Parts: sequence; structure tokens; C-alpha cells
Amino acid sequence: MNNLKIGIIGGGTMGNGIAHVFSIYNFNVILVDINATILDNAKSNIEKNMNRQLKKGYIDIEKLKSSLDRILFSTDINDVKDCDLVIEAVKEDIDIKNKIFKQLDKLCKNSTILASNTSSISIDKLSKATNRRDKVIGMHFMNPVPVMKLVEIIVGDKTSLDCLNFIIGLTETIQKVPVKCNDSPGFVSNRILMPMINEAALCFQEGVATAESIDKIMKLGMGHPMGPLKLADLIGIDVCIYILNILYADFNDIKYKPAKILLEMNKNNKLGEKTGEGFYNYEF
Ligand code: CAA
Repeated sequence: MNNLKIGIIGGGTMGNGIAHVFSIYNFNVILVDINATILDNAKSNIEKNMNRQLKKGYIDIEKLKSSLDRILFSTDINDVKDCDLVIEAVKEDIDIKNKIFKQLDKLCKNSTILASNTSSISIDKLSKATNRRDKVIGMHFMNPVPVMKLVEIIVGDKTSLDCLNFIIGLTETIQKVPVKCNDSPGFVSNRILMPMINEAALCFQEGVATAESIDKIMKLGMGHPMGPLKLADLIGIDVCIYILNILYADFNDIKYKPAKILLEMNKNNKLGEKTGEGFYNYEF
């Protein structure tokens, strides 16, 4: 399997995390972003996170160097044309994703599998932008990718069993745990997670408790590794709103309507860790 070439479109948090993991497991990776600054940031982020692993003794310096060398950073999407698998990890915007899937379908060899790291957009809808619907699948990684074990595998109506089995095997090769689910709004992870985050935001908005107290209650009381508001900051307030709006629209159910406080934070660019302020303040 290690001879396979993996293309990743989008150098943001998820894209660079996915590139990090595949390169550590000896795959050749091509990480593409049209924005050269995002690619530069992706490279330094991967280096920073690999250095964490080095310090912990999980990898040695040779492994760090060879893994970094296995990643080609490119601003040209044509560079993924020979890849065996391309994982799209761009912004959660169906028009942008459709455009990329259409482009990849034209560009890549017939056997290439096209995966999306979408957190909520229908795999069936995305597959319709291609002429290879049997080779389109969801690979939903969790943030931070180098640490989290789960990859939620989303199977569309037309995804073939061969494609599913290949992706399950590949996910296991990178020491992650693939868990399959069907194509339904928010899949399983975000259908359950986002209403919890929204409810925590409502508690904060209504003054039921401070952000620290809400998070402490969920950490100590429910055994969550981090509280829902801190997690919203990690995911990004804009991403949470986007996913909630998909759930709201697709289920036509008011229970998914984003809390006012989230909308206000979004308007004021308080998007969480990435902008330095969300429910908490962060130093860059
Ligand atoms: N790269 C590499 N290693 C990292 C890392 C990264 N980006 N971030 C953290 N780590 C490592 C640390 O070095 C540390 O390693 P050791 O266990 O060997 O010491 C370990 O992860 C734990 O990190 P910390 O000690 O800094 O902090 P922590 O114990 O609080 O753990 C956490 C941090 C792993 C993020 C933990 O709080 C956690 O699991 N939080 C929940 C995360 C979560 O729910 N993610 C899913 C979000 S939903 C999503 O992604 C999908 C979506 O569609 C929105």
C-alpha cells in the first residue's frame, strides 16, 4: 500500500493534519492549496506537530525528516493527476467542493478514488459532480488529526464495496479506526456533537454559567477530554455554524438553529483558536 500516492486538496488544519499522518506512515503525499501562504503555514504546522511527536519519543529525527521530505507542497492541482487517492479538505462550501470534484474527475486517472473530508455535506451530492460515483466516498478525520483515532467513513448510494474496502484497509494502515456510516446530514459525529455545542452556547448566552464552568461541568461530570465551548473554539465557530445550518436545512428542524451568541461571534470574527479569540482568548 505504501507505494500509493495520496493527494490532498486544502492546506488548512485538516488538510495539513491528514498530510502529516500519511507521510509518517511512509506514503508519498502531494498537498495542494491555491494559496501559497496557507501552504507555508501548513508546512510549519506539520513541522511543529511532528516535533511534538519527536519530543515524546514517538518518532526519531530521521523519521521526521524523511516524512517531511515525502510531502510535496504545491499550488497546482494538476500535480495530483497520478494519485491513487485524492482527499478533498477545503472549506465547507458545497459550490467550492463541487467545483473541485469536477476538476479532479477530469484530471485524475480512471482508477483514482476521490474522498471528501466533509463534516456534513452529502457524499451523494458531491459524487454527482463526477463520472465515477462508485469511487467517491467520505473520509471524515477528526481534529487534531495526528492524535484522534477515528475516521468516519461515509458511504454514498453509489459507493462501491471495492472502494469502501480499499478505504477501510488504508485507514487501518495509518493506524486509525475506520467506522462506517451512511450518508445522512451531519453523519453521526456532527449530528450528535453540534447540538451539544449549540446547547452549551445557549447556556452561556442565557448566563446559566460561565464558559469555564460549562466546560468544567462537562469535563468532570461526563468525562469529556475538553469542554464543548473549548471544543467549539478548536473546531472554529464558523464551521460549527455551517454544520448546524446544514442540519437545520436538511432536517427542517428548529432544534438545530445556531444560537445567537455563535452568530454574533462569527460576525465579530471571534472564530476561536484560529483568530485568537472565541469563548476563550489564545496567544499566537
Ligand atoms: N499534533 C500532534 N500531537 C498533538 C496535537 C497535534 N496537533 N495536539 C495535541 N497533541 C498531542 C500532545 O502532544 C499530547 O501527547 P501525549 O499524550 O503523548 O502527551 C496529546 O496530544 C495530548 O495533548 P495535550 O497534553 O496538549 O492536551 P490534552 O491532554 O488536553 O489533549 C486533545 C488535547 C487531544 C485535543 C484532547 O483535549 C481531546 O481529545 N479533545 C477532544 C478533541 C475532539 O473532540 N476532536 C474532534 C472534534 S470534531 C471534528 O474534528 C470533526 C468536525 O467535523 C467538526
